[in-house]
Amino acid sequence: MHKIFIKLLATLLLSLAAATPACAVDEDGYDLWLRYRPLERAAQARLQPQARTLVLAGKPSPTTQAALKELQRGLQGMLGSAPAVSATIQDGSLVLATPAMLPELATASSPLRAELTALGSEGYLLRKTRLQGHHVTLIAANSDIGLLYGAFAWLRAAVIGAQPEAASAPKLQLRLLNHWDNLDRTVERGYAGASIWDWWALPDITDRRYVDYARANASLGINGTVLNNVNSKPEVLTAAFIAKAAAVADVLRPYGIKVYLSARFSTPLELKETDTADPLSPAVQAWWRNKADEIYRAIPDFGGFLVKANSEGQPGPQDYHRTHADGANMLAAAVVPHKGIVMWRAFVYAHGDDKGTDRAKQAYDEFTPLDGKFAANVMVQVKNGAIDFQPREPFHPLFGGMPKTPLLMEFQITKEYLGFSTDLAYLGTMFEETLHSDTKRAPQGLTVAQVIEGKALPEAARQAGLTGMAGVANIGSDRNWTGHHFDQANWYAFGRLAWDPQASARAIAVEWAAQTFSADARVTAPVVDIMMMSRETVVDYMTPLGLHHMMGTGHHHGPAPWVDNLERPDWNPVYYHRAARDGIGFDRTASGTNALAQYAPEIARQYADPRTTPTQLLLWFHHLPWDYAMPSGRTLWAELLHRYDTGVRGARELQSRWMALRPMIDERRHDEVAQRLRRQVANAELWRNACIAYFQSINGLPLPPGVTPPPKPLDYYKAIQVPYAPGRG
Ligand code: GCU
Repeated sequence: MHKIFIKLLATLLLSLAAATPACAVDEDGYDLWLRYRPLERAAQARLQPQARTLVLAGKPSPTTQAALKELQRGLQGMLGSAPAVSATIQDGSLVLATPAMLPELATASSPLRAELTALGSEGYLLRKTRLQGHHVTLIAANSDIGLLYGAFAWLRAAVIGAQPEAASAPKLQLRLLNHWDNLDRTVERGYAGASIWDWWALPDITDRRYVDYARANASLGINGTVLNNVNSKPEVLTAAFIAKAAAVADVLRPYGIKVYLSARFSTPLELKETDTADPLSPAVQAWWRNKADEIYRAIPDFGGFLVKANSEGQPGPQDYHRTHADGANMLAAAVVPHKGIVMWRAFVYAHGDDKGTDRAKQAYDEFTPLDGKFAANVMVQVKNGAIDFQPREPFHPLFGGMPKTPLLMEFQITKEYLGFSTDLAYLGTMFEETLHSDTKRAPQGLTVAQVIEGKALPEAARQAGLTGMAGVANIGSDRNWTGHHFDQANWYAFGRLAWDPQASARAIAVEWAAQTFSADARVTAPVVDIMMMSRETVVDYMTPLGLHHMMGTGHHHGPAPWVDNLERPDWNPVYYHRAARDGIGFDRTASGTNALAQYAPEIARQYADPRTTPTQLLLWFHHLPWDYAMPSGRTLWAELLHRYDTGVRGARELQSRWMALRPMIDERRHDEVAQRLRRQVANAELWRNACIAYFQSINGLPLPPGVTPPPKPLDYYKAIQVPYAPGRG
């Protein structure tokens, strides 16, 4: 009896051990994807011989020190002990070297020479090779920062169990986070607590978190950060705040991350140091030059300014009847002696242009006449779509529409319109959709990714190499950084795509899931499945078939398709969906606003006809009758209902798939995600019910058989208020 009991117990324990990957200890998410948990024995046995000692082939710098420290931390975690740092190369050394440190890498006979040259100043090479007669693993690069990136890449491969043989260089020069963080530590559209920048404590007190922030970003290759909100305040450019920004810059510098600031165009005027902010005024120009000099004295590698001008009430050059180019070039002249840049945002829609035109057209109309008129150190920063970070938008027509101007992609990592940090939505697929879009621009059709890689630019501008991608950060003071554990994946995916805009969202999801939860395929595969279906699910329950901007006023959470009373027409959801007795959707063809004409002729032709418009963008471009026959065989009305139901089913599916993972994930993180998924199901149901109730009140049509009526009358949904929703800044 006793023996049988012991046998049973042993079998139970064994099966539990088999079902439970090594990550079952509770975690709070602080470590992000840099967890370095113990590897399985076989993986340890494979890794150990590759890193018996760590060798830095030259003099240490803060950056290479960070690389060595990270390798030690990672190996300590994965193997249980960290290798010693040694000065001599032996069999089994993990060697970090640049050609300057180890000239033999650069000799004519070195097989690595050509490969290294091709990797530029930030790329890296991971290679098992022979050095000075010894079998080693080599992390090689042309610079210290390349070595740090290489160290992170080597660790990533070790965690995932991938072959650590790779050569990689970033395709974009600027890989930036944009913090919409205010100086009082509130965060506009932030859903993960307060700002991580403790401006009050700075510059004397620097949070340890800044180092972990830098590590996480460097692990992805992010090399710049704009510390403050695009809706900027003049005070950020005063001496006190420059000193605070300089203290942050000092912490981030070893990790290759430059600091930038958002500048308010009227700063000198508001600080009462000039009597105008006119960009053509010599006094204003001198003020900015002196200000730039002052900043560079404190932060010698300051990146430059990000500017939101003449948009949503922000001041700008148009206040003085000057153009965006006049404004940008004035600032560009101030920073150019220091090699700084200006990132001038194209997200403009002016007060006054509310005569029933199309907000989607404004940026293109204002900026394309300025193509070729910007100084060489100006980039125009363009949101992925022409409205505003909706769950789905067609790519912005400015991509491919300004061939002489370097364009910086702006994605929103924080989920202002996709359920904050309560709903699960992996944005890698959304970013990928935009980046892979074919602009159909000459000569042979360029994807958006190729446009931002500078492939369409004239030779001189291409040589200057101003290329980049910016992501509006979702980082805050929450212990797990991003509020939702899965929102870490959006930071991660942004960084990886900024390194390589042509990378695959699925491959990135696999990497992230393996590092964040477990490399065990029984965990990685279902987590990736959840991620890959999540964004489409959100689109289905919020804004299917190309609908957009139907979120609650101001906070942008929850459905409000009925809103029609806001000051500007283009702030109202009814402006965007145009639902009426006769049909639904925004006619952007020639019979409507003709926004379509802003795209390449091939796209304009294809999308002019609803039958050749992708279904997912149908109501973005067309106003169609409710009984329009969809390719599915349903009427448009039935299709819309079907999509809402698909969205709700999808949300439940996300939940049930996650619940099935319970034995494989640590309890704390599992529960924190599970609670949010419960809320997401309720949010999906709310969207479905409120939108169906509203659209039915407009079209008066019955629900087809099998479609459940909304449980409450429309007035119930209209009365829902969400006071004190986060993210208002
Ligand atoms: C959106 C967002 C604002 C933000 C603006 C911008 O409209 O709701 O909070 O300031 O975008 O990108 O400038």
